[in-house]
Amino acid sequence: MKKDVLSNVHSDKLFEQVYDYLLERIRRGEWKVHEKLPSIRVLAAEFEVHRLTVFKAYQLLKQNRKVYVKDKSGYYVQPGSTLPLAAQQDPIVAAYVHESCLSEIHQVEAVYQFSKALLDPNLLPNRYFSEYVKKVFDIYPKVLGTYSTTQGDLELREALCRYFADKHHFDLTKDEILITSGSQEAIDLIARVLVKPRDTVLLERPTYSPAIDVFRRQGANIVPIDIYPDGYRLDQVEELMQKYKPRLFYLNPTFQNPTGYTVPAEQRKRIVDLAAQYQCLLVEDDPCPDIYFGEEPPPPFFAYDTTGCAIYIRSFSKYIAPGLSIAMVACRPSFMTYLVKAKSLSDSGTPLLNQKIFLHYFFSERMQQHLEKLRTALAIRKEIMEEELSATGWQWNSPAGGFNLWIKLPESTPMEGLLGKSMEQSITFVPGSICDPRRELNSWIRMSYSYLNELQLREGLRRFVSVFRQLSSGRKSDHL
Ligand SMILES: Cc1ncc(COP(=O)(O)O)c(C=O)c1O
Repeated sequence: MKKDVLSNVHSDKLFEQVYDYLLERIRRGEWKVHEKLPSIRVLAAEFEVHRLTVFKAYQLLKQNRKVYVKDKSGYYVQPGSTLPLAAQQDPIVAAYVHESCLSEIHQVEAVYQFSKALLDPNLLPNRYFSEYVKKVFDIYPKVLGTYSTTQGDLELREALCRYFADKHHFDLTKDEILITSGSQEAIDLIARVLVKPRDTVLLERPTYSPAIDVFRRQGANIVPIDIYPDGYRLDQVEELMQKYKPRLFYLNPTFQNPTGYTVPAEQRKRIVDLAAQYQCLLVEDDPCPDIYFGEEPPPPFFAYDTTGCAIYIRSFSKYIAPGLSIAMVACRPSFMTYLVKAKSLSDSGTPLLNQKIFLHYFFSERMQQHLEKLRTALAIRKEIMEEELSATGWQWNSPAGGFNLWIKLPESTPMEGLLGKSMEQSITFVPGSICDPRRELNSWIRMSYSYLNELQLREGLRRFVSVFRQLSSGRKSDHL
């Protein structure tokens, strides 16, 4: 029977094969959330393996929060372990569909989109931008008739080397840069190249939600590291690196999404040392270092790295030109070879036209002046949001940059109800649980101040607070 699913030629240990098989069945929804799973005895007989093998598989499922144990009566399916219902209904699709929690929220049409950590398009110098597009066609008349190289346009990579050498003293060559179509692609490529099932990946808690989805899809054993307004607890970082020997630590240390927190320079240096000591790669995602409201943030981890453990992903998409979707990865040549191969399997290079437009636009003097205006405009929008929420009693740390407010609502807030009622009022926000590798943080939400204009911000927030109050007073009267 099922023993056929456990292969003799497979390099994984027997209990790991049982783990993979059970996990796949859980994901497909063969057992519902909170449903009891077959006993160790039954499965051992089914697989024709020792009971200890099944026990070890269950222990790993428990450790990875796919199952939980209740009153010593057996193992039960943990919420969040199964695929969304739509995928489960079609067993063929279920094998291929993966979660993408944030994009599901973004697909909701709403007037007051506090869920979008994107820039209001009116804040970009659109007319100036289109002048540049015309200029690019004059400079490169054959640009539409040519592919880029897979690694990216040489002229752009050379310009980026000079830019980072000036800005952060990066010691980089053009061969250590890969141009990608947004940093989302970069995270995906890195995960494909580095992470195989059960490799441990450290993620901040909370973190950028699509990163959880990508590393989960790879079958990673995800271990969260808490992030606080003043960074990480270094003893926790060291303990987890020592205990799990993780493959990588994915981090977003500058105006973090969703919290807005920034990891201080001393911690960055120390974490680079720890990563070198425990041979853990640091994958730093840096989509908005220029959006600061006071002091400039500290240099990226990459600037402190001398052993090659840091990989730097820099997006130029969010506030430079979202429509071009340009990002880059900087890493050492040994790893770059694998990344370029992976990129060639997904496309044969980021569109050349986009790269050339970006090259001329980003390095222009006007763009640099524009960043100054952008910081002021976003600082004002953040203040408006804080002002509108000031009477609510909700808690947040005022971010020193970025696009989001990470807000703690009262513990008793019924999050699903709040999201549903808000959507009825054409309001969206990001529930904290989807930013949490543990799918907890149920009383937190992410609200972005970057996408809506000042009037929409005020109006949307007033409506949102009113939805919240109605829901809370309804609940109170239910209890009377
Ligand atoms: C932390 C983080 N990483 C990656 C991305 C994706 O960026 P891109 O548009 O370059 O794919 C975002 C966008 O919101 C982000 O906040």
